[in-house]
Amino acid sequence: MKLLEVNHLSKSFGNQEILKDISFHVEDGEFVSILGPSGSGKSTLFRMIGGITKPSSGSIILRGENIIGKKGHISYIPQSSSLFPWRTVLQNVLLDQELSGKVDKERAVQLIERAGLKGYEHAYPHELSGGMKQRVSFIRSFMNPQSLILLDEPFSALDEFTRLSMHKWLLSIWSENKKSILFVTHNIEEALFLSDRLIIFSEKPANIKAEFTLPFSRPRNTELLLTEPFLQWKRKVFSLLVNE
Ligand SMILES: Nc1ncnc2c1ncn2[C@@H]1O[C@H](COP(=O)(O)OP(=O)(O)O)[C@@H](O)[C@H]1O
Ligand SMILES: [Mg+2]
Repeated sequence: MKLLEVNHLSKSFGNQEILKDISFHVEDGEFVSILGPSGSGKSTLFRMIGGITKPSSGSIILRGENIIGKKGHISYIPQSSSLFPWRTVLQNVLLDQELSGKVDKERAVQLIERAGLKGYEHAYPHELSGGMKQRVSFIRSFMNPQSLILLDEPFSALDEFTRLSMHKWLLSIWSENKKSILFVTHNIEEALFLSDRLIIFSEKPANIKAEFTLPFSRPRNTELLLTEPFLQWKRKVFSLLVNE
């Protein structure tokens, strides 16, 4: 079933056109990535899906309901860390649940342990590395009732090794939690490794240059990155991104 439908979405700031006639969808349980150059309007798209900014034209439909200008229907992890520095790891993870009145502390502790953060439940964000903070934000998102999670370049500040292990961790918690993910990145390898489907944006004003369903089976592990089919995809997507 189609969870999210974005139809003919356009956005301008003043007379500057940012997004131009964007249409795509996300199915239930799917992992879809949007790959595009910096400044092409990816974060702007997410702010529109999150109800923070309104489009100039077009529609955004979640399970049949128009969500333009409506917050709270999706779980959105912005580009920079969204943890509250004065709350502990556990308190950060439980924040959204506290707001909705239903707290499942046991599940939170379980997910924190699964994320390799056992013993850090009562630590504060400044005591954590970049990768650890990112995992805490993800856990909070996976604890939410919303079925769609938007991730905006969550790994761009991490070193290569941390990034690879975060990919595997994200895929494992995604496969256990049956959520849909819409993921934004400018990293080709990351988009290919994680996704079921890949949507490629042009330079600003962005439109959709190409859309691919990826053939790699799951579960995926890092050996995939060096296989010939994977490298072929990397070349294909690279040449699409660099050749206007
Ligand atoms: N509130 C705003 N007012 C004016 N211009 C904006 C605003 N937000 C984003 N932009 C512009 O829109 C373009 C796309 O930005 P953004 O969505 O952050 O791109 P990306 O996430 O793909 O790097 C940029 O040129 C940026 O300067
Ligand atoms: Mg951005």
